[in-house]
Amino acid sequence: MRFDRSIKIAPSILSADFADFGAEIQAIEAQGADWVHVDVMDGHFVPNLTFGPPAVKAFRPHVKTVMDVHLMISPVDAYIDAYAAAGADILTAHVEAGPHIHRTLQAIRGAGMKAGVALNPGTPPEAAAPLMDMADLVLVMTVNPGFGGQKFIDMTGKIAAIRAMIGDRPIHIQVDGGITPDTAPLVARAGADSLVAGSAVFRGGSVANPAPYGDNIRAIRAAAAAG
Ligand code: DX5
Ligand code: ZN
Repeated sequence: MRFDRSIKIAPSILSADFADFGAEIQAIEAQGADWVHVDVMDGHFVPNLTFGPPAVKAFRPHVKTVMDVHLMISPVDAYIDAYAAAGADILTAHVEAGPHIHRTLQAIRGAGMKAGVALNPGTPPEAAAPLMDMADLVLVMTVNPGFGGQKFIDMTGKIAAIRAMIGDRPIHIQVDGGITPDTAPLVARAGADSLVAGSAVFRGGSVANPAPYGDNIRAIRAAAAAG
């Protein structure tokens, strides 16, 4: 089976209405989302706090596509089984979250999920090199993690270096932070195939009026394709 490197849009529900996650997830999927990006923050690894395994478990029945869980927590290993039980399809841990990322990725795959490794803007691409056989996804942060609505940090050089590293391996390159129709062409041209977008997708729409979600998703996808 050919590896699907086509552009995928993964709206981040960090920008959704926290009082209505189920309906928001259904709305973005109906409007064209390919994956649903779930930002888990522990108030320690990043200066913000969102939700843990119980909330992720509650989201699961509403996700018909791919539940893509981005862990901004440290430590990680103690929570892997809980996110597997919560129904994560992809579980991504930060290389900066602890000394044993190789073991962490092994444990994520061992728990039946796809394993992702995330790199903060200050971390060089070489950090991913020893992990090419352990990862199903490399996440290149294009903001310093912790909040939505931040300004894009140009990581196109790092994306291109990782794309070259990956070669033909079945590994997605995901970007996250400040992705809009203006920045999507840059990251797609450099080699990213999974584009996370929070504020740029949820802007102007709501569960009662989801059409802007679709317009925003289509605009990002078209811009990336034209990249
Ligand atoms: C930030 C999160 C992102 C964030 C993206 O730490 O990992 O997923 O929600 O939001 P925007 O697209 O608004 O920058
Ligand atoms: Zn994220």
